[in-house]
Amino acid sequence: MASSKMAFAAILIASLFFTASLAFPAHHEGAYPTGQSPKPGLSPDYYKVTCPQADEIVVSVLKKAIAKEQRIAASLLRLLFHDCFVQGCDASVLLDDNDGVVSEKNAIPNKNSIRGFEVIDEIKAALEEACPHTVSCADTIALAARGSTVLSGGPYWELPLGRKDSKTANMKLANKNLPPPNATLHRLINFFQRQGLGKVDLVALSGSHTIGAARCVSFKQRLYNQHRDNKPDRTLEKTLYHTLASVCPRTGGDNNIRPLDFASPAKFDNAYYQLILEGRGLLNSDQVLWTGSDPEVAGLVRSYAENKHLFFQHYVDSITRMGNISPLTGYSGEIRKNCRVVNKHIQ
Ligand code: HEM
Repeated sequence: MASSKMAFAAILIASLFFTASLAFPAHHEGAYPTGQSPKPGLSPDYYKVTCPQADEIVVSVLKKAIAKEQRIAASLLRLLFHDCFVQGCDASVLLDDNDGVVSEKNAIPNKNSIRGFEVIDEIKAALEEACPHTVSCADTIALAARGSTVLSGGPYWELPLGRKDSKTANMKLANKNLPPPNATLHRLINFFQRQGLGKVDLVALSGSHTIGAARCVSFKQRLYNQHRDNKPDRTLEKTLYHTLASVCPRTGGDNNIRPLDFASPAKFDNAYYQLILEGRGLLNSDQVLWTGSDPEVAGLVRSYAENKHLFFQHYVDSITRMGNISPLTGYSGEIRKNCRVVNKHIQ
C-alpha cells in the first residue's frame, strides 16, 4: 500500500514537472546556440489566438514601403541576418544608444550601411495598435524578412514565432560575428560554423544577395588592390570591372552603390549564382564561393545556378535555421513597446 502511494506521488511529481516544462520552456544561454534541434520553443501558431492578423499587418506595411522604394525589401532581409548573428534573433540590432546600451548600429558592418529601421517602427506601431504588447520586435524582424522575400518573388516559409526581445545590445559582438565582405572562403565557413550553420547554409543564404545593393567601399579592394599589389582581383570579369571602376573611383565615391545582382536586382531569383559562375559576383565573399577551391561549396553554387527550385528549397531550410539561433523564449527577455529602447526607459 505504502509503495503504491509512493509510486503515485512520484508519477504526480513527474507529470507536474513535465507540464511546467512545457508551459515555461527554459532558455538555456548557450545550451543550443545554433539553429539546430532541439527545438528552441518557437511555433508558427504562436500568435494564432493573440494576434491572428499579425502577418497581414506586416505585409500591408511592407507593400507600401516597397512601392516607395524597392530596395527596402533587401534591407529588411539583411536586418534578420545582422540580428541573428549577434547574440541570437532577439532584436538587439534595433536598440539605439541609450543608458547602458551601446548600439550595434555603430558596429563596423552596420554603420552607414544597415537600414530599414523606420519601416520596422511603422510595422511595430501598426502591430501595437491592433494587438498591444503582443508581437515582439524580434518576430517583427523575422516577419518583415519573410514578407520582403516573398514580395520580391522569393520563397515562402513556415516561420516559427515566439521570440522575445533582448534588454541588451552588443556592439563588440557585432564587430566579431558579422563577416566582412573581403573574407576568404575559409573565414566565411568559420563565421557560419560559429553559429551552428554549415556550408549549405552559407551558400544558400548568400543567395540573399540576389536583391539589394552594396556601397563601393564594400568591394573597392577588388578593383584596385586585391592582394596588396595595386592590382584588381583576377577573378573579376573584365566588363564588370570597367563598369564598377567607372562608379567607384580609386579615391572618393565610397557611398556610391551598385546592385549585388545586376541582372535582376529587385527580383529574388537564382541569377546571383549564374553571375558568380561568370566571374560577375560583386563582393569578394560572393565570388569566393566559386573560386575558393572548396568542391562542395562550388558544387552548390553550380547546382543553385542550374536549379532555382533547389535553391529555394535549401534557402527555406537555411533561413529557418538562421531564424532559430538562440531565441529568448518564455520569461526570458521582454516584448518591447518601442523597438529602439528597452521597456524600462519608456515606462
Ligand atoms: C556570407 C557572408 C556575408 C557577407 C560577407 C555579407 C556582406 C554584405 C555587404 C558588405 C553588403 C553591402 C553593405 C554595404 O555596402 O553597405 C551586404 C548586403 C546585403 N546582404 Fe549580405 N553578407 C553576407 C551574408 C548575408 C546573409 C546571410 C544575408 C541574409 C540572410 C544577407 C543579406 C544581404 C542583403 C539583402 C543585402 C542588401 C541590403 C541592402 O540593399 O540594403 N547577406 N552584405
